[in-house]
Amino acid sequence: MQTRVLTGITTTGTPHLGNYVGAIRPAIAASRRPEVDAFFFMADYHALIKSDDPARIERSRLEIAATWLAAGLDPNRVTFYRQSDIPEIPELTWFLTCVTAKGLLNRAHAYKASVDKNTEAGEDQDAGVTAGLYMYPVLMAADILAFNAQQVPVGRDQIQHIEMARDIAQRFNHIYGHEFFVLPEVVIEEQVATLPGLDGRKMSKSYDNTIPLFAGGAKQLRETIMRIVTDSRMPGEAKDPDSSSLFTIFHAFASETESHAFRRALEEGIGWGEAKQVLYERLEADIAPMRERYEELIARPADIEDILREGARKARAIASPKIAELRAAIGLRAMSSANLPAGGTRQATKAARPPRFASFRDTDGSFRFRLFSSEGDELLLSKSFKDPKEAGAVQKRLKVLGGAAATVHSLPRSLVLELDGEPVATAPDYTDEIERDEALSYLRAALDLLAVQEKSE
Ligand code: TYM
Repeated sequence: MQTRVLTGITTTGTPHLGNYVGAIRPAIAASRRPEVDAFFFMADYHALIKSDDPARIERSRLEIAATWLAAGLDPNRVTFYRQSDIPEIPELTWFLTCVTAKGLLNRAHAYKASVDKNTEAGEDQDAGVTAGLYMYPVLMAADILAFNAQQVPVGRDQIQHIEMARDIAQRFNHIYGHEFFVLPEVVIEEQVATLPGLDGRKMSKSYDNTIPLFAGGAKQLRETIMRIVTDSRMPGEAKDPDSSSLFTIFHAFASETESHAFRRALEEGIGWGEAKQVLYERLEADIAPMRERYEELIARPADIEDILREGARKARAIASPKIAELRAAIGLRAMSSANLPAGGTRQATKAARPPRFASFRDTDGSFRFRLFSSEGDELLLSKSFKDPKEAGAVQKRLKVLGGAAATVHSLPRSLVLELDGEPVATAPDYTDEIERDEALSYLRAALDLLAVQEKSE
């Protein structure tokens, strides 16, 4: 079983050590595991909420894309794309907006922080707050849910957003009576969940306290590290590693043995200047080879564009049938499909008669079966089996599978159901993609019904 892992970075600035440690490095490590199906992207729609400077957005998209690649992302393994190349995301954002409680968004940290700041300043509580900022968590939920991502590796600051994505998914599933969305789980690297910036607060573009990963080269890395705020203890005086940003950043890059040695050096009174040089050298050892690749990549923006377009194609191949299924489920259906079984998924789920299998012997002597919906429409025709027991075993598995767990591929006018990566049944030919997508939602509803029925027997 593959696990779908997804994460994104907002394209409002130059990638910094916090982005690398909190998201890029763990995400790339995960993408190398054979059981992981990884989706990494540039959140450039989110960037518009934070910046109205087109040149900055443009530059940041390029820098962040080059950073992912320089850090080891393999675009042949990973689906790597720009959020703004996937029109299904804003469409899903609207579907989700319509089921999201306004009260939930009132509680979002970023929005609340703006309200608190305004209140303190005696301003109207929403002064300067755009609807974009308010909707930020819904757009983020759409990023995740459009691909049914199971795990989302992020820094600790994003936990609330993932929790909201779960809430929104649950609400949608509940309202439309079917498990359309998998509930995503947050993945945090415990050891380095929040990297501090120059002033000891969370390293963040908004606090202007970041240490850039590549920008400015080794010289700027060293100079920025030298600006990390420390206490006034002199060389020879013992320092407390646990309250030192220097140590936290070092620890995020070093092995346990190296961290242990650095801890001892601080406790034994190494001067802050010298400690900063040790930190710089440790970071530079990891960063220098990546920076070299970064410089090469950033000089070839057209190649990066090609990679991202191919990524968008792969991403849309997943998001597009998902959105089509959702459109059908929520009632945005073609008028010509009025002859399909009446009612949506919700009604189908509540239908009185259960879906049923019908087995038969084909003209070549092989064994096959059909699955019919509660309304008697043919949903699936199985492949040919030599042994009737094999056909029976597949039926048995379909009875307990449930709609959400079914792997169904969309062909232009048909559907293919797979078990263990093997096609086992196809749907009849439909007149167009709209009819096919509606049929997919009936198929999933029928599989749900079968599973419920099986449980209750
Ligand atoms: P963004 O661009 O602020 O940050 C990108 C990633 O870097 C992590 N991060 C940190 N980790 C540790 N220490 C820090 N000081 C630090 N600063 C940033 C963030 O936690 C994040 O994982 N809303 C997101 C982007 C986004 C997204 C998504 C992420 C949009 N849609 C869907 C995951 C899934 C953001 O602004 O991240």
